[in-house]
Amino acid sequence: MSIQQLCFIPGDGIGKEVVPAAAEIVQALQVPYEIVWAQAGWECFQACGNAMPAETLASVRASVATLFGATSSPTTGAVKGYRSPILEFRNQLGLYANLRPVKSLPVPASRANIDMLIVRENMECLYIREERMVDADTAEATRRISRAGSHRIGLRAAQLAAQRRGRLTIAHKANVLSVTDGLFRQAVRAAAESVPGVQIEERLVDALAHDLVLKPEIFDVIVAPNLYGDILSDLASALVGGLGIAPSANVGASVGVYEPVHGSAPDIAGQDLANPTAAFQTLVMLLRDIGQSAAAQRLQNSLMATLQAGDTTRDLGGKLGTRAFTQAVIQRL
Ligand code: NAI
Ligand code: MG
Repeated sequence: MSIQQLCFIPGDGIGKEVVPAAAEIVQALQVPYEIVWAQAGWECFQACGNAMPAETLASVRASVATLFGATSSPTTGAVKGYRSPILEFRNQLGLYANLRPVKSLPVPASRANIDMLIVRENMECLYIREERMVDADTAEATRRISRAGSHRIGLRAAQLAAQRRGRLTIAHKANVLSVTDGLFRQAVRAAAESVPGVQIEERLVDALAHDLVLKPEIFDVIVAPNLYGDILSDLASALVGGLGIAPSANVGASVGVYEPVHGSAPDIAGQDLANPTAAFQTLVMLLRDIGQSAAAQRLQNSLMATLQAGDTTRDLGGKLGTRAFTQAVIQRL
């Protein structure tokens, strides 16, 4: 039997530090997978004219799961031929759900008693990128919400809620966007009602943002259209330690692409300052989903013990660099 592969894509900036750190963890855990490296992102685009070469997509498809670091967007605005690789993955692989757990951590920067999962719709809404200038001074974007797209994300979110505390909050702004958000809300609710044991509630996204800051502990699963989900999940990550710790999984019709929520962080890239906790928590999600739950638990335990001991990177008030923190986690495995 040939050995199964995991695809690791560092991307740009701190992706090139945290993904190799995660690879060291995989080696130390001795899980029976071969890591295959692939390229994507802005540097890749500059080198070969393609932000996501066909070999990379083929490698992702041939793997049981992919760990993706982060990529940089061109700083000069739109560049002809450049498309964000992660958006390409989501579309090409039908990864319609972005799962973003937000859970209290044993660090001073984290508030206590938070344990929620933000389920972000990943393929529709404003992120279809149909934008245009209608005249020299006016720009427009299309926001697409479909019944089928909303139904499947609603179903997934409700099923996940049923495995947790059974509470599902639908984020929308249907008081203003009665057609698009109205459809989202209605289709998500219809899907969720088909799942037994789930209590459904709705909140306008602005009021929800307020409550996320004031009483985050009340939330279990939040389901949101793409743009709201993106914003709410960065906000929520700040309650438990910030972008340096926040993991996510893109899942759907085929193999999952797992990625830390953060971007390429050019302000700290290449200086051994990046917190690899987000990548490690992402790796925990990946390992669980491919059936390596014992390895996932070992990593989870070691990571929590390391954080609890105060052996942290600077974003969490500690003194360790990316590499030293990685070694501290490996030692506790
Ligand atoms: P960012 O997430 O890269 O950084 C925001 C702030 O958080 C920065 O101050 C950064 O230093 C800090 N930070 C992020 N991750 C950290 C970590 N692991 N450890 C310690 N500090 C960390 O977001 P920003 O600056 O808005 O975007 C930078 C680039 O990344 C842009 O080109 C953007 O388009 C891209 N980006 C890519 C994403 C992806 O590939 N999935 C997601 C978000 C942004
Ligand atoms: Mg984001």
